[in-house]
Amino acid sequence: MIRVKIPATSANLGPGFDCLGLALQLHNAITVEIDRPFKISLTGSYSDGIPADESNLVWQTMCHFWELVHYPTPSVALTFENHIPPARGLGSSSAAIVGGLVAANVIAGSPYTKYELLQVANTLEGHPDNVTPALYGGVTLSIPTENGILPRVLAQFPKLRAVVVIPNLLLKTEKARGILPPHIARNDAVFNISHAGLLIEAFIREEYSFLKEGMRDVLHQNQRAVLIPGLLETLEAALQAGAYGAALSGSGPTLLALTEPEFEQHIAQSMHDVFERHAVIAQAYVLGIDSKGADVIY
Ligand code: HSE
Repeated sequence: MIRVKIPATSANLGPGFDCLGLALQLHNAITVEIDRPFKISLTGSYSDGIPADESNLVWQTMCHFWELVHYPTPSVALTFENHIPPARGLGSSSAAIVGGLVAANVIAGSPYTKYELLQVANTLEGHPDNVTPALYGGVTLSIPTENGILPRVLAQFPKLRAVVVIPNLLLKTEKARGILPPHIARNDAVFNISHAGLLIEAFIREEYSFLKEGMRDVLHQNQRAVLIPGLLETLEAALQAGAYGAALSGSGPTLLALTEPEFEQHIAQSMHDVFERHAVIAQAYVLGIDSKGADVIY
């Protein structure tokens, strides 16, 4: 039997559209029992609506990998424990893809390195900013190169707490990407490049006072505010309550604030209250940063 734990992730971190991300201490788990009749069992708080048949994304990913490495599909019993809320900007589909690849690779005798698994995960997911931290843990930068995605772990053990406020709204990444204009103005590109640079410095030097400015963005957050009532006001409330920085998590609707532990409850409450004023029901989690990435337990 093998078990793989995969962290939730938060992508973009403000200006790092499609390239920056971090892993959170909120996990899904995949358990595989080999040489059993095929069966998928679902457990955990977010299993509703997830298919328990061959169309399941984890299973599809496992089969895709075995085909890629010419390994005959084994008969397995699978249990998927779902704690990451789906379609909320917390990397649930990346967790399914990364978990499926890591489990299938182990079962096939580990023919692929982590770097090679990242390339497959990126192809399946379409953008690397969730799959890289899901595989590597910590705060990551994904760089598109001629030879695929180059992953860099900027900080494996950042001394930060993450307040994650999850509105009760489903928002598919395709929809949240669909509203973005296809072209960007040069001054907006300069704004985001310079702010992403500052953000990277903040993580590398552990100079978290830079996060407030470093997490500002002009390429996607304002544009997505039409889809998430109270978005900009809630980010501002997080800063007022003492957060180092705050941003939309991935394509939303979840918001992320990074902070010292002493402010975490106040930030969570303040963000929750602003959403409530906008008639949005939201749930707040306070989480640590995951440093391991996808983890195999034998
Ligand atoms: N970076 C993506 C977006 C989401 O903001 O659309 C996660 O891949």
